Formats: sequence, C-alpha cells, structure tokens
Amino acid sequence: MVYGGSVEFKGASILSISQFERADIDHIFRVADRMEPYAQRQRITRVLDGAILGNMFFEASTRTRISFGSAFNLLGGEVRETVGFEASALAKGESLQDTARVLSGFSDIICMRHPESGSVADFASASRVPVINGGDGSNEHPSQALLDLYTIEKELKGLGRSLDGLRVAMIGDLKHGRTVHSLCKLLMLFDNVSVQLVSPKELAMPSNLVDDMREAGISVEESDKIEPSISHVDIVYSTRIQEERFSSRDEADLYRGRFRLNQAIYTSHCEPNTVIMHPLPRDSRAEANELDSDLDSNPNLAIFRQTDNGLLVRMALFSIILDVTHLVDKYASEVRWYNPR
Ligand code: CP
Repeated sequence: MVYGGSVEFKGASILSISQFERADIDHIFRVADRMEPYAQRQRITRVLDGAILGNMFFEASTRTRISFGSAFNLLGGEVRETVGFEASALAKGESLQDTARVLSGFSDIICMRHPESGSVADFASASRVPVINGGDGSNEHPSQALLDLYTIEKELKGLGRSLDGLRVAMIGDLKHGRTVHSLCKLLMLFDNVSVQLVSPKELAMPSNLVDDMREAGISVEESDKIEPSISHVDIVYSTRIQEERFSSRDEADLYRGRFRLNQAIYTSHCEPNTVIMHPLPRDSRAEANELDSDLDSNPNLAIFRQTDNGLLVRMALFSIILDVTHLVDKYASEVRWYNPR
C-alpha cells in the first residue's frame, strides 16, 4: 500500500482531527476495509495478543467505550476499564497528569473520554503510551468523525459518488456537539463540499469553525429552519441537544424537540436517496424525538451502519498506531463458534 500522509502513525496519540491530511484519512479507511472479516467474525486474529487497552471513560458512553473495547478484543488484546470519576482516584484529588503517569505503566494504549475540553490532550502530555480522544467536553470526538465519514464514503459509493462534492445538513446543538466539530474539521480536507448548519441561534456552530470552513473552501449556510435546509443534501446529520453541557435540564428543554425528522418530513423535503445519520444516542423521549422511529424501516437510515463501521475504524486505528497492520492476517485463524451474521 502506498501511503503519503502527514501523520507518523506508529505510537501517535489521536487527539484532534486537525492532525490529519487527506492521505491519512484514506489510509485509515483502507485499513478499516481490511478489518471487515474480523469484525464480521468470519476470521479471528490474535495480532494484539498480550497487549492491554486502558479504557478510561470519565463521562457516560455506550458506543464509544464498548466499540473501542470490542475493537481491541477483536484484534486479540485485553481491556481494562475505569468508568466514572467516583470509581477512580480523580475523586480523591489526583491530577489527570498523575493518573496518566500511572495508567500508562499498565497499558499499551489508552482511550479516554472526559467532560472538559482539552483534558485528553492534558492527560496525553504525561502518558508514556498513545492516547486516543474518545470525546473531550464540547471540543472534539475524532474517532466518531472518522467513522461518520467512512460511513458517508460507503453510502455514497453505492450511489456512484465520492466525498468530493458532498452536500451535508448538520442539525441540532451545533454549539456543544463535539461530533459535528470534528466532522466539520474533517470535511475541510475535501473539495466542493457544502454544509447547511441548522440550529437555534443560541446553539450555533462556533464562529471560528465556520470561518475556518469557509477559508478551506466549504460553502456554509446557517439557518434555524430544518425543511428548506434538508432539501438538496446527500446527508442529513441530526444531533442531540447536549443536555449535559447546559446548566439545567430546564434550559436544555428550551431547545429539545425543535428539529424533529420523521418519514413524512423526509418524504416531502428530502431527495430520494438522502442518507440519514446521527452519532447516537438519539433522544427518543416524546419531548425530543429527534429521529422518529417511523424512520427505522427507511433503508437510508444509516445510524446502525455507523455504529458497525465504528468497530472497523477503531480496529484500524489500533492496528496502525501499534504498527501491526501488516501482521493482522498472519495471526489469523478460523472461527469455531456459530456465527449468525
Ligand atoms: N456517539 C457516541 O459518542 O456515543 P456514546 O456517547 O454512547 O459513546
């Protein structure tokens, strides 16, 4: 494989999408493709036999934590976890840097989520092993953006399209949504991209990020109305009101349910092949109902393909950072158990 990217991946921490150039993204995606038989349990590989992932999640997570852990297991490695402040010595006043010095003695690589922007980079600065940002406050969620774009690439490929010329509508809490912040940075690497940003004014995309996107050549329009903004796009990317970033539930309630998408709205306003995405969790409570369950039978709803693709992308990141991509197949064997896939 010819690889001409900018990142020296071996031993690198992944803290921000800003680290990457376009060739790096293509490299990760092509390695992710090669992980498919292992993620589908058609083959087993033990290439990371003996390696330990420290999975440190100081904020709630279902997908990212289990997906990183499963990806490491699928490559043959073991996972040790801390979940929540109260179960760690951070609750006793230990600094993030001391925690990093300790935990990096126990692990070969660390994934971390933390509610404060910049915290994962702070932790990584004291770690002796690579650290992957699993989400730091409202700042970034780079592995989510990678799996989102990998999903978009796959969905568009089925329509004979590539990532250049992509048209996306991002909807919801664009101020606090770290997934859209990372995704916007990622889209800056591609050509002829147009982005519709749909949010209440108070929850708009940070202006510096909008400026950066425009400077990178992205056509950006901002609106607080969903219907006209989803009419001519390839991807509708819905997001949740990030209640945990508000001072109270009441404040979040002011915005919850503002942008609902259901099958009737989709049929009336979207092009026939518009793909519906969401980083998940979607807020399915009646007062929010961001993506109505009547969309669940819509073949263009890609939300669970996103989560499946997350496994591939995270396996690719581990494989590249720990420099075993060329050995994955060498340490492979047959699956012995019933596989319903
Ligand atoms: N998309 C995402 O980050 O989901 P979790 O919060 O469940 O990890």
